[in-house]
Amino acid sequence: MVSKSPIWFLFAAAMSTGLLLLLTSVRAATAPIQDPEGGAAEEQEATPMEVQMERVEDAMRTLRRSIRKPEARVDSLAHVQECQEGLLLSKELDPIMLPRVPEAEQAAFKRDFRLGMIEALEAYLELERALLEERDDDARELYKKASGLEDPAHERFTEDG
Ligand code: HEM
Repeated sequence: MVSKSPIWFLFAAAMSTGLLLLLTSVRAATAPIQDPEGGAAEEQEATPMEVQMERVEDAMRTLRRSIRKPEARVDSLAHVQECQEGLLLSKELDPIMLPRVPEAEQAAFKRDFRLGMIEALEAYLELERALLEERDDDARELYKKASGLEDPAHERFTEDG
């Protein structure tokens, strides 16, 4: 019979090997890019600090609108509280870039980071005081002061800053 001839056997073996190689290369081409640590490069989980920082960012966005309206002072105070909580919980965490800072500079980096957080918290405490004392113009100025701290802090303490 034809199917029992060695030629047919060799042909079938070559075809299946080719098919296998083709499938492997298609799989490799469509697999997600892996980073050196083995995680998927595109989907990195937010760090605990990023979770808190997003909280601050969201509260600031709503605060920017409510702070223009004296009748929304209660809302503004709630947003300010949210910012303070996010910063307070961030203060004790280590920035993700810390291990990439030269070892001899790490202690100063951590101290400066904490001082930066204290400065931001102080700005939000002052802002809270202004709102409670119904000094709305001061509150608006203090909002600008607090939001102005973000960019310089990120330049110093984040890798893409
Ligand atoms: C005052 C308003 C602030 C806002 C609204 C804010 C917002 C954010 C947001 C949204 C992120 C997530 C990543 C990104 O989108 O860049 C982030 C990350 C980060 N922020 Fe802030 N931030 C503020 C202040 C600060 C301050 C004062 C510091 C340091 C003293 C700081 C240090 C960092 C660090 C280190 C990260 C990276 C997260 C990590 O290392 O795990 N931020 N911030």
